[in-house]
Amino acid sequence: MTNKFPDNFWWGAAASAPQTEGASNVDGKSPTTWDVWHEREPEAFFNQVGPDLTSDVYHRYRDDIQLMKDMNLNSYRTSISWARLLPDGKTLNEKAVAYYRDYFQTMLDTGIEPVINLFHFDMPWWMMELGGWENADIIEHFAYYAKVAFEQFGDIVKNWATFNEPMVHIECGYLGDAHWPRVNDFKRAIQVGYHTLMAHFAAVRSFRQSGVEGKIGTILNLSPVYARSEEAADLEAQKWADLFHTRSLLDPIALNQFPQELVDILKEHDLLPTLYAEHDELLTQAIDFLGVNYYQPLRVKAREEIPSTLERPSSLYAGYDWPEKKMNKYRGWEIYERGIYDIAMRIKNDYGNVPWFISENGMGVADEERFIDESGIVQDTYRIEFIRDHLTWLLKSINEGSNCFGYHLWTFVDCWSWLNAYRNRYGYYRVDLENNLERTPKLSSFWLREIIEKNELDI
Ligand code: NOJ
Repeated sequence: MTNKFPDNFWWGAAASAPQTEGASNVDGKSPTTWDVWHEREPEAFFNQVGPDLTSDVYHRYRDDIQLMKDMNLNSYRTSISWARLLPDGKTLNEKAVAYYRDYFQTMLDTGIEPVINLFHFDMPWWMMELGGWENADIIEHFAYYAKVAFEQFGDIVKNWATFNEPMVHIECGYLGDAHWPRVNDFKRAIQVGYHTLMAHFAAVRSFRQSGVEGKIGTILNLSPVYARSEEAADLEAQKWADLFHTRSLLDPIALNQFPQELVDILKEHDLLPTLYAEHDELLTQAIDFLGVNYYQPLRVKAREEIPSTLERPSSLYAGYDWPEKKMNKYRGWEIYERGIYDIAMRIKNDYGNVPWFISENGMGVADEERFIDESGIVQDTYRIEFIRDHLTWLLKSINEGSNCFGYHLWTFVDCWSWLNAYRNRYGYYRVDLENNLERTPKLSSFWLREIIEKNELDI
C-alpha cells in the first residue's frame, strides 16, 4: 500500500457556468430557465438571490485562476453556457468566444488543465419554449452547440464532458419540482432521459468528427446502493434502485447497451420512450473517461407493498434510514467515505476499469461564518477531515488497481447553488457576499496545497 497518488494526478476543483459566472444578462447572453424562473418567482430562491449575482467569475476569472495556482491546483472543471455561446441556438456570440478563450487560455498559461463541460442544468429559455428535453429536436440542437464549442475552443481544451449529472435534470425537473419545468410524470421523465442520452452520444460523435485532439467523457452522480439486509426482498429492492439510478445511464454510456431488465420493466408498464431515428448508430459512441460526482450513498429496503402502477423508481423500493449513519449535520446528507471505494471497485469490475476521476466530492455547510477566526480564516477542519477520509478510501482503491486519475472538490470559491443560492458553502475559498464578493482562503485550502505538493496523503 502506497500513500502516493499516481503521477500527473488531477488535483482540482469543479464548478459550472450558471453557478459562478453571473453576468446573466450581459454581452449578448440569452436567458436560461434559471434566469426566467428567478425573474418570475424570486421568493423560490434562498434570500431571493438569483443567477445574476453568483460569484461574478465572468469578470474575476483571472484573479481566481491565480488563487488556484497559489493552491497548487493543476486542473479545473467548469462549463460553457449554451445560452451565452449561441444565444438563439444558431448565431455565434463573439463576445462569449472571446471570454471563454481568454478564460481557458489563462488556465493553461497558469498550468491548470481546463476540463470543460457542455451542459450543467442550464437549459436556454428559447429551447425550453420548444419543449426542452421533451422535444427530440434538442438532440440536433445540442450536437450543433457541441460542434461549435469544439471548433471554437478545441485548440485549447483537451478534456471535454458532455453533461454534468444528467440524472438531476431528469429527476428534479420531471419527477420533482427543484428544476424547471417542475413536471411530475414518469413517462415524460423517461423520454427526457432518453433524449438526454441521445444528445450525449450525438455530442460524442460530433467530437470524433471534429478532428479535435483530446478526450471526451461525461459526469454522473453515482451513489452506491446498499440494502438494509441480505434478505431476498431487500436485495430485490437494491437491484431496482441500482437499475434506475445507476445502470439506466451508466450502462448505455460506458458499455453502449441498455440493461435488458430496464427495457423489460419499462415495457411491462408501457413506459418505453419513443426511439430516435439514429438510435442504433448513436449508441455505438464510446467515452474516453468517466467523471463521478460522489456525495452520499443510497440505502434501501423492500417496500411493504409494490404498487401496480410504476410512478417513479421508488415505487419498487423504499428508502432505508440506517441507524448507524454519520451525518453532515450542516447539510443533512449522510457521509460514507467507503462509498468512494465501492464505486471504484464497481467501475473496475463491471465497467472495464474505464479511466475515471472524482469530478465532485465535497461538503456543504450553512452559516460558515461561525467558524471564522481572528485572522479572518474559516477554520473548516470538518472539510479537511471529510476530504482526508475520502482520499484514504480512494487511495485504497487505486492501490487495488482502480484506474482513477484525479480528485476534484466541489468547489473552488463558494458558489450559488440553485434554489439554495448561497445557503450552503462548499469552497476552498470563502466568498463574502457583504463585502464585494471578496475571496478569502479557508483552512482546507492550505491543507490541500501541502497534499498536492507531495502528491501523497499522510495517513
Ligand atoms: C452537484 C452539482 O453538479 C452542482 O451543481 C451542485 O451545486 C453540487 N453538486 C452541490 O450540491
